[in-house]
Amino acid sequence: TKLDIELAAIEKGGYDHFMIKEIHEQPHTIQDCLRGRLDPAAGTITMAGVENHLQQLINAPRIIMVACGTSWHAGLVAEYVFEELCRIPVEVEYASEFRYRNPIIHKGDVIIAISQSGETADTLVAIDRAKEQGATIFGIVNAVGSSIARLSHAGAYTHAGPEIGVASTKAFTAQLAVLTMMALKVAAAKGTIDVKRYQHLCAELAAIPEKVALVLQKAADVKKIAARYKDARDFLYLGRGYNFPVALEGALKLKEISYIHAEGYPAAEMKHGPIALVDDQLPVVFVATKDSYHEKIVSNIQEIKARKGIVLAITSESDEVIPAMADDVFAVPEADEIVAPMLSVIPLQLLSYYVGVAKGFDVDKPRNLAKSVTVE
Ligand code: G6P
Repeated sequence: TKLDIELAAIEKGGYDHFMIKEIHEQPHTIQDCLRGRLDPAAGTITMAGVENHLQQLINAPRIIMVACGTSWHAGLVAEYVFEELCRIPVEVEYASEFRYRNPIIHKGDVIIAISQSGETADTLVAIDRAKEQGATIFGIVNAVGSSIARLSHAGAYTHAGPEIGVASTKAFTAQLAVLTMMALKVAAAKGTIDVKRYQHLCAELAAIPEKVALVLQKAADVKKIAARYKDARDFLYLGRGYNFPVALEGALKLKEISYIHAEGYPAAEMKHGPIALVDDQLPVVFVATKDSYHEKIVSNIQEIKARKGIVLAITSESDEVIPAMADDVFAVPEADEIVAPMLSVIPLQLLSYYVGVAKGFDVDKPRNLAKSVTVE
């Protein structure tokens, strides 16, 4: 009815779809996630769940991240962050694989379960098994009071608000914000980070919401890029280090929303296979913000250009090298590499959205997908 249509429009807050509304909410949702926890001036991070289990986390011989889909990609970023800052070995497991193996869990191991809905069946069963074997379960969940939140020994909510669009966007950046705060807190308590770097990273994290807003101001640029690329049959997404999981997430978003085949790969690994796909029809998206891998990724871009691939690069604003090589560039504000994924993923979310819309697809309800997979 007309009323239903009007109600739906109100819910979408003036946006055409929930997905784009939720993408644009990210400056606020990340802020909501940091609020009351991160105080960069005082250099404190308040997280009751972490404080109550601080000894377990500091002494954990290993952390295992268990998740599915986009949440699994947040786990992959967190693997790099925890290993770098806390010097704890991390494994990232697909919940569906973990649950059917006979996983080796040692005394003291901490499982971090990451889930937007808190109801994903595979993740739920996986942590239930691990709990039986004596692991401590820490839940990073968006839906308050959900099954995974209740099953966990401790946890931290992402506070991103209800996510309606089937493809996860704002939950992902909130998961990264929580996991980064958690890693910083553990690193500080463990003494694996020096005061200067800790304070720098607290400030960098606090600056993210504002920088995300700057990225979103340029959404129309991504729309133009999307119009040029929408008819491609395949895409390759490449990144290194902290941006490698972002490449995976960008490819997943494109598959989910635009029904275009896309593969995410570590940029250096492409020469062991995917480079065979490169020709003048293949767009290659490089997630290449300035970080310790920058020089390396520049040579990866050269390798693609030498084979006539089409390069679309996500770069840092100060970068002058990559724009001279790439066919299209989208620049995001400078940020420490540890927090950069929260910025570099935004244009990739927008790209999948605009390509999907340009192709006339129902981006909020992509075919064959469910918001929450509660069956195995
Ligand atoms: C489904 C959704 C994805 C989500 C995944 C994990 O596949 O379509 O967007 O990333 O489930 O969901 P969870 O709620 O556990 O994060």
